[in-house]
Amino acid sequence: MDESIFDALMAGRDTAVAIVTTAAGGRRAGCLIGFLSQCSIEPRRIAIWLSKANHTYRIGLTAKYVAVHFPTAEDFALAELFGTLSGDDVDKFERCRYESGPGGVPLLVDCPNRIVARRVALLDDGSDHVCITLDPIEAHGGRGDALRISALEGLVAGHSATDTAPDEA
Ligand SMILES: Cc1cc2nc3c(=O)[nH]c(=O)nc-3n(C[C@H](O)[C@H](O)[C@H](O)COP(=O)(O)O)c2cc1C
Repeated sequence: MDESIFDALMAGRDTAVAIVTTAAGGRRAGCLIGFLSQCSIEPRRIAIWLSKANHTYRIGLTAKYVAVHFPTAEDFALAELFGTLSGDDVDKFERCRYESGPGGVPLLVDCPNRIVARRVALLDDGSDHVCITLDPIEAHGGRGDALRISALEGLVAGHSATDTAPDEA
């Protein structure tokens, strides 16, 4: 398989990014994602893919609720915060405004376009990301054009997909 053609085809989709937040055991987590899709019509469901290297994945494993925020072009700074820093090193929630939603899931005040959802299933197919399906319980929208991955060129992810979790290192 020609990986450069694969990469170009996928980049051509210019996916709208999202910021996923969650909480479990009194710990908050959140990261920027490009891997997101609606995956059912009735009932409406969405799927997200989290890197096994990420702090958000480890908290998400036992979380009941997930909030998926849809940043607009004006939300570059929030996308940078959640995409380039890791909860393994810093508390991202000390650097942004949030309020608590169901199960303590942090809701980003400055990013009101969002779906709050219950976690349904988790699929680990042995690759470096896991798929989590979500059952929406709230949706809020109406603000601005989606922030797309092409606007984030140059950002370096807080964790590369090949990083190992701190307790595994
Ligand atoms: C443009 C962009 C897209 C990303 N897409 C994903 C993604 O789909 N899934 C994921 O788990 N991480 C993705 N990341 C990486 C995480 O957002 C990043 O490693 C983050 O710092 C992890 O934070 P955490 O360790 O606190 O969870 C992406 C990063 C960038 C810059």
